[in-house]
Amino acid sequence: MYHEPVLFTESLDALHIRPGGVYVDATFGGGGHSRGILGRLGDNGRLYAFDQDDDAAANAQQAPFAGDERFVFVASNFRHLKRSLRVEGQPPGTIDGILADLGVSSYQIDTPERGFS
Ligand SMILES: C[S@@+](CC[C@H](N)C(=O)[O-])C[C@H]1O[C@@H](n2cnc3c(N)ncnc32)[C@H](O)[C@@H]1O
Repeated sequence: MYHEPVLFTESLDALHIRPGGVYVDATFGGGGHSRGILGRLGDNGRLYAFDQDDDAAANAQQAPFAGDERFVFVASNFRHLKRSLRVEGQPPGTIDGILADLGVSSYQIDTPERGFS
């Protein structure tokens, strides 16, 4: 597994996800939390996922994210979140919740080429 999210259910519960709401995963990584958010969204919901890591971007191109029209991946540092969301037509006030799982993922530590081990 790319990364096992901690407090998975608790963090999703804390977002109080409305099926038609608009949410942001600021740290997509392996997409564990994003998968959970999409699982609670209805057909009209939307999820914007940010990550600045190339491997995370590659994960976002795969199932179940690829082809899911409710999902938009933004390959960017979340410091640009406000501006990027504006570009996507989602100004402040239109976002129902933001999840940030800060830090490195276990994948980044476990992959020697990345230099952490
Ligand atoms: C702990 S992992 C997230 C794991 C994710 N919640 C999951 O379920 O797989 C943190 C991720 O945040 C990303 N990240 C860290 N700082 C970032 C930043 N300033 N902007 C965008 N992504 C960032 C890292 O590249 C990493 O993929």
